[in-house]
Amino acid sequence: MLFPDYRPRRLRQNENFRRMIRETRVCVDDLILPLFAVEGKGVKKPIEPMPGHYQLSREYVVKEAKTAHDLGIPAVMLFGIPDKKDALGTGAYAKDGIVQKTVKAIKNKAPDLVVITDVCLCEYTDHGHCGMVEDGIIVNDATLDLLARTALSHARAGADMVAPSDMMDGRVAEIRDALDENGFQSTPIMSYAAKYCSAFYNPFREAAESAPQFGDRRTYQMDPANSLEAIREVSMDVEEGADIVMVKPAMPYLDIIFRVREEVDLPLAAYQVSGEFAMIKAAEKLGWIDGESIMMECLVAIKRAGADMIVTYFAKEAARKLAGH
Ligand code: PBG
Repeated sequence: MLFPDYRPRRLRQNENFRRMIRETRVCVDDLILPLFAVEGKGVKKPIEPMPGHYQLSREYVVKEAKTAHDLGIPAVMLFGIPDKKDALGTGAYAKDGIVQKTVKAIKNKAPDLVVITDVCLCEYTDHGHCGMVEDGIIVNDATLDLLARTALSHARAGADMVAPSDMMDGRVAEIRDALDENGFQSTPIMSYAAKYCSAFYNPFREAAESAPQFGDRRTYQMDPANSLEAIREVSMDVEEGADIVMVKPAMPYLDIIFRVREEVDLPLAAYQVSGEFAMIKAAEKLGWIDGESIMMECLVAIKRAGADMIVTYFAKEAARKLAGH
């Protein structure tokens, strides 16, 4: 149909027409709020490049989790920053580790909020890599057991879902087995399936004190230039038993989200990462953009590309905006 028979503007004339033909909606159900837990009491340390986000001691994490819950946000994603790090990241799978203690505290106070725990070693290893290091090499198979122990200890502490973000090959199957063998058949796995080696994570590494102390993460995270490989990565995790697959980062990888959505019928998550958030906040602070409009535009774009849910540092702001205040 061509002009003048077809006039697309006819259905853009007023907000009610626009509402009626809107194809994509962001709602509070889509949002997952990341939180950073530290040891101690009374700690609320601002993360500079991520305004509104803090390293929080337990009582404050619980408070934030309750606020998220009250706003109608269904889930939080919990990261832990331990006091002590070592070569094997033992803090990641310690019974009284930072995530384990914090999960318990959240579930005590907000029992029906979904607590997803990030399963990785990089916050807990002194070298800052996501796996075990031998002779300067990040070794895959020996790391799997540590990741499985981490996931299991999170489940034992009460985590509702575990989210491996390490990008070691084979970890979803290993984690699934460990959960199943120990009575956690009902605990779902959200796998960071197509996780790219991205400079957009830099503010997070400041937040989580998890920057690699040598080298980089290119031997395990994906090359930003690849998209067929994303399909292979995602398919592998599906075969290994993932319940939800994730693409990360989100905005620079909308084509990957779209492609994964076409190929896979599992629920799909996208992680709008720290750098995406920091750029918007920085430009807003300079008065160069309208931060709130850009936030909503980005979230709707991520959904339009095919994501069912979005891990985002904007979760609280977006929830408030969507509720009309
Ligand atoms: C841990 C992990 C990272 C992020 C989530 N889990 C950092 C990394 O891989 O370096 C990044 C999240 C963000 O940037 O917001 N492996």
